Amino acid sequence: MNLFENLPKPFFVLAPMDDVTDTVFRQIVADCAKPDLSFTEFVNVDGLQSPGRAHLLPKLRISDKEKPVIAQLWGLKPENFYKTAKELASMGFAGVDLNMGCPVKTVVKNGACAALINNRELATEIIEAAREGAGGSLPVSVKTRVGFTTVDMGWLEFLLSKKLNMLSIHGRTAKQMSKVPADWDLIGRAVGLRDSLSPATLIVGNGDVLSRIQGEELAKKHGLDGIMIGRGIFHDPFIFSQSRPWEGWGETKRLQLFIKHIELFLKTYGGSERKFEPLRKFCKTYINGFEGAAELRAEFMLAKSAAEALELLRGRRR
Ligand SMILES: Cc1cc2nc3c(=O)[nH]c(=O)nc-3n(C[C@H](O)[C@H](O)[C@H](O)COP(=O)(O)O)c2cc1C
Repeated sequence: MNLFENLPKPFFVLAPMDDVTDTVFRQIVADCAKPDLSFTEFVNVDGLQSPGRAHLLPKLRISDKEKPVIAQLWGLKPENFYKTAKELASMGFAGVDLNMGCPVKTVVKNGACAALINNRELATEIIEAAREGAGGSLPVSVKTRVGFTTVDMGWLEFLLSKKLNMLSIHGRTAKQMSKVPADWDLIGRAVGLRDSLSPATLIVGNGDVLSRIQGEELAKKHGLDGIMIGRGIFHDPFIFSQSRPWEGWGETKRLQLFIKHIELFLKTYGGSERKFEPLRKFCKTYINGFEGAAELRAEFMLAKSAAEALELLRGRRR
């Protein structure tokens, strides 16, 4: 349970992002500027505890370089949260996080993730099952939003009554998706609730942070323990750094880093364990800020495999 004991205040967290924050990208980020804590992509426990398990295991790969890493789980059946939480410590994870915030329609219509905001009975069962599975050896946390259709501080009070080790709050409702700016005053109000309801629960704020300095200011203003950054990493792989080296990186170094990313992807997944297409999400990160970047991005989008993408980038390197 001592994961949080040695973290700085505020601590910085790499957000869970599906098809983005896999072991490969977490290693790349760790080499650039390591966050204090990272999350996996969300992993479906009902799939994991089914014959389809093998397809999901790549999402739970982890290497020493990225640690500490918290595994994020989602699903519907408490017994599968129990079984999965029980496995995580021996896989090298530092904590179990429960996704109660994803607003994607296909997920919510089945009653999972953000839908749990409106189903506190199941949310309770899931938290209890995960805690039982973690058996005191791993901290249990929740990542959520500030409400479903409207702001719902009662939901945050409910979660705080569960005495979680950490609560990460994305300052938008599920209905708002990503369409309006995150409301950090609401996240700040959760700190006040925490102080009275569950003083030991760490509060992490999330939403629209685009630099470390901005995160530090928000943490100070609202008394937060931690700051979680998601999409900001696409703008700057060194976002967790005290300095801003990325701005000074030109074409050669940026492409070299993309090549390193794809090489590690191939080494890790052997070309078939995970699909290549999600790697296109990184195109605008690495192939950016130099002459001819837009044309090279267009070419990259046509590549059909990691090997093809590598050939293109290596041919371009100078
Ligand atoms: C591509 C993508 C995938 C995401 N996948 C997850 C996920 O698996 N679990 C989760 O809790 N949130 C997920 N999110 C939400 C982020 O963790 C984060 O809450 C959101 O992007 C707001 O933070 P930001 O403004 O710093 O990006 C995802 C976001 C993006 C853009």
